[in-house]
Amino acid sequence: MSIKPIRLFGDPVLRTSADPVTDFDAELRKLVQDLTDTMMDAPGLGLAAPQIGVGLRVFTYYVDDVLGHLINPSLDLSAEREEDDEGCLSFPGLAYPVNRAFGVVAKGFDMHGEPVTVEGTSQLARCIQHETDHLDGVLFIDRLD
Ligand code: NI
Repeated sequence: MSIKPIRLFGDPVLRTSADPVTDFDAELRKLVQDLTDTMMDAPGLGLAAPQIGVGLRVFTYYVDDVLGHLINPSLDLSAEREEDDEGCLSFPGLAYPVNRAFGVVAKGFDMHGEPVTVEGTSQLARCIQHETDHLDGVLFIDRLD
């Protein structure tokens, strides 16, 4: 169990684009475990590596009792959209309505380097979009009307 400090808004790492993962090694698996432990402890629905100070394209999620992670994600978004309240562990206590795609098909890799596809709607789709934004240095406040 390894819980890392969560970086808060104002930390430059949250505004830095993360690098693709190239080494699917023990260090990466430790990163996924640290993200999972830190997210579950918070608790939160998702956590991206830059939020614990690591500039790699990795995030974890825990939505509708499903725990997962995704590495080097690329997203296909539905045309249908949905607005719902959204928060972020880097902005404790804040939640605002954010308009996002209702559905997402996310392709990427698991920690062993195997290709994976995650399909989700509503809250899972929202989470995947929010966490992928973190990997590009984009924060949910940037998505507000
Ligand atoms: Ni966030």
